[in-house]
Amino acid sequence: MSKTCMLFCFTIVLFCSKTNAHFGIYELKRGDISVNLTNKGATIISLFVPDKNGKLADVVLGFDSIEHYMRYFGAIVGRVANRIDGAQFTLNGTHYKLACNEGRNTVHGGPKGFSDVVWKVKNYNNKGDSPCITFTYHSCDGDQGFPGDLDVSVTYTLVEQGLSVTMEAEALNKPTPVNLVQHTYWNLGGHNSGDILSNEVQIFGSNITPIKSDKIPTGEITCVQGTPYDFLKPTIIAANFADIPSGYDINYVLDGGDGLKTAAIVHEMRSGRVMEVLTNQPGMQFFTADFIKDFVGKGGFVYQPNAGLCLETQGFPDAVNHPNFPSQIVFPGNKYVHRMLYKFSTKC
Ligand SMILES: *[C@@H]1O[C@H](CO)[C@@H](O)[C@H](O)[C@H]1NC(C)=O
Ligand SMILES: *[C@@H]1O[C@H](CO)[C@@H](O)[C@H](O)[C@H]1NC(C)=O
Repeated sequence: MSKTCMLFCFTIVLFCSKTNAHFGIYELKRGDISVNLTNKGATIISLFVPDKNGKLADVVLGFDSIEHYMRYFGAIVGRVANRIDGAQFTLNGTHYKLACNEGRNTVHGGPKGFSDVVWKVKNYNNKGDSPCITFTYHSCDGDQGFPGDLDVSVTYTLVEQGLSVTMEAEALNKPTPVNLVQHTYWNLGGHNSGDILSNEVQIFGSNITPIKSDKIPTGEITCVQGTPYDFLKPTIIAANFADIPSGYDINYVLDGGDGLKTAAIVHEMRSGRVMEVLTNQPGMQFFTADFIKDFVGKGGFVYQPNAGLCLETQGFPDAVNHPNFPSQIVFPGNKYVHRMLYKFSTKC
């Protein structure tokens, strides 16, 4: 081994042990809502909200140690969440080959996406009316194959109605696709209360982007009416579940235009907890997590299929290869801003 290589390896080892030592837990608390976050993946690790009797429960799935976080649990996903066909795309005449991590495709930013890296803590303020924290990350030109340097930030703020999330990205020198997602697995009955199939869900999307067997969109936009994907009225997840081969995992085209609008409302009837998700994004992936099996979660509780659900507000999957989907290209000088609000309430 050459001296340079040894020095390089030594530096890597030092860097890794150093970053590991930099995982922190940051609490935000406002009234009876409290949330813990970590700088690994800018992840939500716990979130306590009251039920209809005022009893608190942790409604997000997770693990006892930050080292055990994987599969995007609670994290911010990027540079491009969801799938990219064949791990490639062409932008302004340049062909980009990405790192693949799901067969021949790229999912959720690649093998070392934003959910797997350590973010910096920029502001942390757990006092006053709007406790908040901002995490930042610099993604280098060529990171997982994506073009250009990108500065990313996410700010979590507890507000009167719940938790607000603002994800931002700035391309520093080249246009690049950006699609950031908050990937929490929710179970409003409590993370350790079993499956979510009895939850009542309403999704404000009249259309979906259908997919092929590898979950890459066909490019069509089809109407949900008369299909098991119709959640336009509040509907129990279990109602049509038998007609969906491996649970829900599909992008909804959200109704209601470009501004902040309601994407979905979930009602867990035993606890009475209600969560409304608002976003300024055009799409939302509804995912019921069939793949979870024997995951040892928080407090040693073992998660099984459908232990939680995800409401990933986003741009459309594989938009970079579908000119008819809203563009995800962020140009230098034009900021990407993804706003979300998780509103919590109860009803009997
Ligand atoms: C956050 O973590 C701290 C330290 O582990 C713990 O004392 C606190 O109860 C946690 N808060 C929440 C909201 O999970
Ligand atoms: C596209 O590429 C050309 C050169 O190949 C360059 O001059 C131009 O600035 C690029 N446009 C964008 C938006 O990057």
